[in-house]
Amino acid sequence: MSNDSITIKKPFDAHVHFRRGAMLRAVAPISAQKFSAAIVMPNTDPPIETIEQAAEYKKEILAAFPAGNTFNPLMTFYLTKNLKPEEIEKGLSNGVYAVKYYPYGATTNSQWGFRDILEAKELLSEMERAGMPLLLHGEVHVDESENEVDPYQGEKQFIESVFPRLLEQYSDLKISLEHLSTKIAAEFLEKNGETGKLVATVTPHHLLYAREDVEDKPLLRCKPLIKSASDREKVRGLVAEGLPFLSAGTDSAPHPESKKFASPAAFGVFNSPVAIELYTQVFDELNALDKLEEFLSINGPRFFGIEPSKETITLVKNDWQVTEPVVTDEGVNVWPIAHKEHGLGNETIHWQIAI
Ligand code: DOR
Ligand code: ZN
Repeated sequence: MSNDSITIKKPFDAHVHFRRGAMLRAVAPISAQKFSAAIVMPNTDPPIETIEQAAEYKKEILAAFPAGNTFNPLMTFYLTKNLKPEEIEKGLSNGVYAVKYYPYGATTNSQWGFRDILEAKELLSEMERAGMPLLLHGEVHVDESENEVDPYQGEKQFIESVFPRLLEQYSDLKISLEHLSTKIAAEFLEKNGETGKLVATVTPHHLLYAREDVEDKPLLRCKPLIKSASDREKVRGLVAEGLPFLSAGTDSAPHPESKKFASPAAFGVFNSPVAIELYTQVFDELNALDKLEEFLSINGPRFFGIEPSKETITLVKNDWQVTEPVVTDEGVNVWPIAHKEHGLGNETIHWQIAI
């Protein structure tokens, strides 16, 4: 490692959305080129709720890669009312690595989620018993009186009013709190995080941007919403500590331009073409490049019980800009964040993967 070059094990993405069909064929190969493996989100339509569906989805993903690609897609179930407790243990021996919770109504395809995670008693008990990790979209969207919560307060409410009860009632459940976006969540993790037991993922966009800069930028509209600069500073401070229970989860969530440039824009940030580079830029700004490899390539695989990659990648300090969208084989544009025109405006990325 020097000031302008760093070689690390090939990264692991602990949270990615590939979708299906033409979108999948356009975006999954980008992740497969840059990452060694990823935890693949199950909020497709229909949702992934059985081992057969997970296997079929995995087959579709693998078919999108060029011959010889060794990327490992790690599948997940969606925590819905149709998910059967018997599926949990079977999943563990059939390539399913976790179960994902979405709060009902909060985001893309969340119509199948429970309103309150604590309603899913039987499934949570079975996951705890079997050792199946829970991936949490930790936001309250609709409160106990059925009122919609201010989306800027949803994560805070979850951390204050739901999370402590969940941890108390399922004390052996393995949990990953996904896409930390607030000071209060970062402080909670700093205090209670524990390798193999209570971990968290962080996106590049929650490390890089602040509410004030993105409110009118459709490409940066996502759930959880991007919060204030002071929230961002706390999340940045947390990753700079090099804690073993924090890892990269890009939450790359592509939508066609017709949905991203609609009003309101669909929730979801497409970042897989730039995520590793942006994380590296942030760690450089934080003088924490020595902590980058653990965060990107080691802590994630450790939680899911797989080996870190044996391959490496090298990043070099070099300015570049994203000038093109990704285009599906049906001719649909998919715009990555940090795009020169459609991101914040004339953004420059300061690190690049060396070929
Ligand atoms: O912004 C988001 N997009 N947040 C989510 O939780 C889901 C995701 C998606 O699937 O589009
Ligand atoms: Zn997501």
